[in-house]
Formats: sequence, C-alpha cells, structure tokens
Amino acid sequence: MSRRLRHHINPLTFPNPTKADIGNGPFIADIGCGRGEFLKELAKTYPKMRFVGIELRPNIVKEFEKVITKEKLQNIIILQGNASISMRYIFKPDSIKQMFISFPDPWFKPKHKKRTLFTNQFLDESYEALRNGGTIFIQTDQEKLFMEIKDKFSQTKFKEITKAWPKFKSLWEKHKNEHPPYRVVYQKG
Ligand SMILES: C[S@@+](CC[C@H](N)C(=O)[O-])C[C@H]1O[C@@H](n2cnc3c(N)ncnc32)[C@H](O)[C@@H]1O
Repeated sequence: MSRRLRHHINPLTFPNPTKADIGNGPFIADIGCGRGEFLKELAKTYPKMRFVGIELRPNIVKEFEKVITKEKLQNIIILQGNASISMRYIFKPDSIKQMFISFPDPWFKPKHKKRTLFTNQFLDESYEALRNGGTIFIQTDQEKLFMEIKDKFSQTKFKEITKAWPKFKSLWEKHKNEHPPYRVVYQKG
C-alpha cells in the first residue's frame, strides 16, 4: 500500500454503516486491517479462533476475500465498513476478546480532524463490543497521533496495561523500518 499512489476515501461519507450478523464471538478483530497480512498469520497460527477484519476500502476487501478463499482461511471474516461509525452494527456486546489497530490513517490537516478513526462513538462502541478483560492493541508510526490516541483513551473507562504484542507484523510495519512503532494496549474492566 503506497502512500503516493493511494487516494484517500473520506470515512465520514463512505460507506454507510455495515450491518452484519456474524454471531456472538468471541472474536479477534483487526480494525483497518488493510490487506490482512497480520490477520492471516494469526488465523493460520490459531485455527480454532475466529477473526474479523474491518476495512474501509472496497478494492482491498475484494482482494483479501480472494486470498481468504484461495488459502481456505475459514476462520476469517472480512467486512467492508467504516469502523468509526459501524462497530455497533457489526459486533454484539461482549463479543470481542482482542482488538488490533495497526497504523490507522493519520489525518494531519485540521479540516480533516473529524475523519479520525478514534471518534467518541468508536471508543464507546468498542468498549461495548469488548468482553470484560478484553484488550485493544494499538500501534502507529506517528508520534502526534499516538499522543492524541493516548489523550482520547485517558478520558474513557479503558485502562492502559502492559502486554506483549504478537510476534507477527502487519504489512505496513514490514515496510516501515525507520524506528519501532509507538505502541499501547488498553483493557476493558
Ligand atoms: C496505513 S493502512 C494500515 C493497514 C494495516 N493495518 C497494516 O498495518 O498493514 C490503514 C488502513 O486502515 C483503513 N481505514 C482507515 N480508516 C478506517 C475506518 N474508519 N474504518 C475501517 N478501516 C479504516 C484504511 O483503508 C487502510 O487500509
């Protein structure tokens, strides 16, 4: 996924909330999963667990669907949706065990601030969707965004915890070698 080639979709206008019936979980969710590299590794390593990827861009979702079919990854569901406004349409309360957010899009321009994934709605609905003790792993290469995320979460009921990341790297992380990503883990309850 190249920054130069890719055109941004405005998540405020596209697409409408996804309505899905994916069951009660427990799920491991990857929000903004991109091409699903990270999910694929997890799903192959833990075949009995169920994984859900949410991705905004339809073309990336289609590509990932093909990979899922080709590699017979029956424990992954990929859904196209804007997670900042769709979590409650996709996940039932207490259905997520772990959530990963790797390299969410930074919105640098002040006029684009509203496009952030980390809306109050996203934080509230993620809290609802997580089980008690459930965790959100977040990593980014943008220090400013990292500070904003920490500030947002400090105003919620989530608590920051120390927990090791899985050894697998997302596609974005593999292509970014400048410095280790900024990472934080939050827990419900
Ligand atoms: C920089 S890429 C990182 C992809 C992947 N997580 C990785 O680490 O390789 C960010 C991804 O998040 C997706 N995304 C951004 N905002 C989103 C939103 N509100 N809901 C769902 N996906 C979103 C983008 O379309 C893009 O594929």
